[in-house]
Amino acid sequence: MMRDPRYDVLFEPVRIGPLTAKNRFYQVPHCNGMGRTYPSSMAEMRGIKAEGGWAVVCTEEVEIHHSAEYSPGIEGRLWDDSDIPIFARMTDKIHRFDSLAGIELGYAGTAASNRYSREIPMAPTHRPIDGYDPVQARTMDRADIKAVRQWHIDAARRARTAGFDLIYVYVGHALSIQMHFLSRQRNTRTDEYGGSLENRVRLFREILEETKEAVGDTCAVAVRFAVDEMRGPDGITSDAEGRDIIEMLAEEPDLWDVNVSDWHNDSITSRFAQQGYQENYISFVKSLTSKPVVGVGRYTSPDAMVSLVKRGVMDFIGAARPSIADPFLPKKIEEGRLDDIRECIGCNICVSGDYLATPIRCTQNPTMGEEWRRGWHPERIQPRGSDGRVLIVGAGPAGLECALALGNRGYAVTLAEATKELGGRVVQESRLPGLAEWSRVRDFRQGQIARMNNVEVFLDSRMDAAGAIEFGADHIVVATGSTWRKDGIGRENATPIDGWDQPHCFTADDVMSGRPLTGPIILFDDDHYYIGGVLAEKLRADGHEVVLVTPAADVSHWTHNTMEQGRIQTRLLEMGVDILALHNLVAIRNSEAEFACVYTDRKQVRQCGSLVLVTARDPRDALYHDLQDAPEALKEAGIKSVKRIGDCLAPGTIAASTYSGHRYARELDEPLQSGVPFRRELPQLADEKQVP
Ligand SMILES: Cc1cc2nc3c(=O)[nH]c(=O)nc-3n(C[C@H](O)[C@H](O)[C@H](O)COP(=O)(O)O)c2cc1C
Ligand code: SF4
Repeated sequence: MMRDPRYDVLFEPVRIGPLTAKNRFYQVPHCNGMGRTYPSSMAEMRGIKAEGGWAVVCTEEVEIHHSAEYSPGIEGRLWDDSDIPIFARMTDKIHRFDSLAGIELGYAGTAASNRYSREIPMAPTHRPIDGYDPVQARTMDRADIKAVRQWHIDAARRARTAGFDLIYVYVGHALSIQMHFLSRQRNTRTDEYGGSLENRVRLFREILEETKEAVGDTCAVAVRFAVDEMRGPDGITSDAEGRDIIEMLAEEPDLWDVNVSDWHNDSITSRFAQQGYQENYISFVKSLTSKPVVGVGRYTSPDAMVSLVKRGVMDFIGAARPSIADPFLPKKIEEGRLDDIRECIGCNICVSGDYLATPIRCTQNPTMGEEWRRGWHPERIQPRGSDGRVLIVGAGPAGLECALALGNRGYAVTLAEATKELGGRVVQESRLPGLAEWSRVRDFRQGQIARMNNVEVFLDSRMDAAGAIEFGADHIVVATGSTWRKDGIGRENATPIDGWDQPHCFTADDVMSGRPLTGPIILFDDDHYYIGGVLAEKLRADGHEVVLVTPAADVSHWTHNTMEQGRIQTRLLEMGVDILALHNLVAIRNSEAEFACVYTDRKQVRQCGSLVLVTARDPRDALYHDLQDAPEALKEAGIKSVKRIGDCLAPGTIAASTYSGHRYARELDEPLQSGVPFRRELPQLADEKQVP
């Protein structure tokens, strides 16, 4: 297929200092929970981005010195020459596809507490470090400032040795010392590095100049700068100091990569902002510089991208999440395959890997993080291992992904769905406030499957064991999802809650399917991810009085890992949802619900018209067990395997479901592996006699 000429502008080469990028697709720095700990995984993932057509592929933030390190967070690390080979592996993989490799050098200052190195963190002015570690950073003296500048020069030289084309000076996200110096709150120095803007910019300017001096003859020197901290006049704003700083340094870097800060604002989820949410903040930048400008905003639409370039907002379309969900996004636009784009849904499961110091995962792209260790490629899959026919029962995220991946392998697949729609839980969840984009999980797969001759789909086709056996497939996959429990069993309550079985008690499924509820409503959330919070939001928006009760310290506690918790709780409070934290639901007596403080067990009673229990889910696995109970019939019908996947196996995230469906498809007819089912990278054992 040919690409639409409307998109030609996206494939124009663009100069960056001494280099030329082959097109306008730019993978901005993003961590991946692999970095220094699983370097081959990191390198392979970046190489696949290059293969997918990104003209520039960058690292995550990379520590330049042991006195500013994020342990146990897994970022890049370039402390000395011994770290160079890790990055050389990455740049090599990127260069194979004529892409440019960028590295984001950062000195974390108060953003890291140095749990591993135990060095005292440094700051423009002594302050507690960000977060709650009982650590304070010390004020930097002039020698410290000089040292940081030298470390940056050393790291830039090492980066060049590792093969990087683009070297970043990182002044973003409040995660870098240069940004801390810019901040009037963090920097109250009275020397030439504090006070006036000119003084607060000094360290940024010096490091930029020195990096150019050190490597600028062959490498491009880029700046990532947050033009707005979104903290109002207390911080940097795009109409005041953010703008002034760009004006002061306009022609200094070879490229401006501009965004908003902090990370919560920059990588905001689709629940709280749509594609293009940063444009108003960064659109002024191009008018002040002749250097190329990169911007971000979860861009997946090629029309939006073209418009940004044509309107002079940016020269490069920066992307983190769209490149995670679909590493081949540029190639697909280039080849006119827009329907093949796996669009990011903005859920930030990718971010959770970073928070939990584990390899990145993605709801839309089950191969993310698995490229090296399992050898999974996002666009290629091995041909089928037999002529076996597969029946998949249930077309939620797991069933759909399984059908798609099996279809791509060339299997004859039948997907039977009990309801009139594909999508399973995504159908209902994407109707909840702010979650509309989650329907992309279904839409992408539905669109792909519709074009496959070897995958047939039957809606409105509830299957029982007899029907499934009679169907005559070689393999049966049960992907029938899960249902929310009604009895209150969950994390806090190991046995059913007294009085749960009353007509005014409802489950999350009841609310999602539109059962009428009488207020006032108490929602008990012992699940702690998004459903409890979003249902409270919906019920409040429907006009009910709502109390959200949780045994945790705050609502939707796990969403700290997707950087949404603050926004969720703020929204609920602003809407007038009453929040009772640190309480467990212990009994329900007609209109009275009794709660106990999780610390003191002190009880309190609240009145309600309806009680919604969001605690745990039961796998909807009756079909699976019925099949297990009919071994003779299975044998007679020649059925070789019956497996469960997704929530039917164990309720979890949508990302876990797409992964589960994909994994089944990859492993069908493959030899059974004993031991660890993926490649590991082990630390190198040091020579015992090695001296520091
Ligand atoms: C998983 C993840 C990790 C990130 N890590 C970094 C990082 O190391 N350095 C950085 O400057 N920005 C980082 N970001 C922010 C992105 O570069 C980007 O500015 C932001 O996600 C908005 O772009 P997007 O909407 O295309 O994702 C990260 C974003 C994500 C999703
Ligand atoms: S995990 Fe979610 S937000 Fe992150 S890239 Fe994938 S779909 Fe997008």
